[in-house]
Amino acid sequence: MNDTAQFSSGIRISSEALHEFVSAIWRGAGSDKEEAMLVADHLVQANLSGHDSHGVGMIPRYLRSLSDGELKLNRHAILARDAGAVLTVEGGLGFGQVVAKEAMDMGIARARKLGLCAVGLRNAHHIGRIGHWAEQCAAAGLVSFHFVNVAGDPLVAPFGGIDARFGTNPFCAAYPRRGKPPLVLDFATSRVAFGKTRVAYNKGVQLPEGCVIDHEGKPTTDPKVMHEAPRGSLLTLGEFKGYGLAAMCEVFAGALSGGFTTHAESIVRTNAIVNCMLSVILDPAALDAPDAEAEAEAFLEWVKASPLQEGAGEIQVPGEPELARRRERGESGIPIDGTTWEQLLEAGGRFSVAMPAVQAD
Ligand SMILES: NC(=O)c1ccc[n+]([C@@H]2O[C@H](COP(=O)([O-])OP(=O)(O)OC[C@H]3O[C@@H](n4cnc5c(N)ncnc54)[C@H](O)[C@@H]3O)[C@@H](O)[C@H]2O)c1
Repeated sequence: MNDTAQFSSGIRISSEALHEFVSAIWRGAGSDKEEAMLVADHLVQANLSGHDSHGVGMIPRYLRSLSDGELKLNRHAILARDAGAVLTVEGGLGFGQVVAKEAMDMGIARARKLGLCAVGLRNAHHIGRIGHWAEQCAAAGLVSFHFVNVAGDPLVAPFGGIDARFGTNPFCAAYPRRGKPPLVLDFATSRVAFGKTRVAYNKGVQLPEGCVIDHEGKPTTDPKVMHEAPRGSLLTLGEFKGYGLAAMCEVFAGALSGGFTTHAESIVRTNAIVNCMLSVILDPAALDAPDAEAEAEAFLEWVKASPLQEGAGEIQVPGEPELARRRERGESGIPIDGTTWEQLLEAGGRFSVAMPAVQAD
């Protein structure tokens, strides 16, 4: 059914149909088959995991970046320097979904050989949900942590400041578990990811308190301050602690990778989203810790047994909310708000991609 008006309040779509639709859009835009598939894998998995901010709603922005001549299709990661346990990888503004995967492939191979590998990835176009890269390492049996900057894209105010000076700089860490999904801690160092303000703006709902300030530094819950002039700023999580972590992400990822940090001379004024990432990938088998697995499991069991606060449903460990969402959305389909769906249909229309089967939500 192609009557878009009936979908103004949003749709639900199966992950398979959405994957096919997204992949067809990128094939239409000029990506080769492998690239279109990797981009679709990543974006749909973000939606499945409940992170709509980093899912298919990014496509209009990516297409604008492509039109700006910023996002480069069919580009691959280039090993800029091989120093043994330390690799520097140039992303060349290729699709983050491709170059980050390739950078992780290189880091995984080296960590398997040496026990440890640090990978500095620079100048990648948006690498999306960082948990995706940590899960790639965990699937190979490796521990990893990742510091990321959103280079030249100030959206977040420093602790005590009133204007945006750096990006939403995510931090991520993952721990693989035998026969079980890994622990995956993966968050923006801003109180909410910028994409979540876009989702709220598109849905016409308010943000929780304490997430944004307006252009004068006054607290507000209106997501419009992040999407219409005069622009406000996001706040960091955990006050000076989140700010500190964001600052370390900026320096580790932006400076150490040979990419760039955010400052007056480096502001990105196009639609490109440039990410740099410093990843440390570690083979747990290289440590003298024969009881590591049992110790980790004993701890997880112990924390989960804490008596519940009033109103709390259960105690979860990092990564569990995403698993629950994958189960739920895998069964009942992925919800997409009306505005985002309209934008995606418009994107599909540009490349004559047929509208997939959906249900009104
Ligand atoms: N590429 C970029 O430039 C960029 C920038 C910012 C954020 N991001 C991505 O945006 C996504 C969303 O970030 P966010 O800050 O909105 O995430 P979030 O606030 O939803 O936090 C997610 C993390 O917290 C854990 N978690 C959530 N509820 C929990 C609970 N009750 N108990 C235990 N653990 C719990 C999750 O398992 C996950 O590790 C992330 O995937 C991040 O990588 C990317």
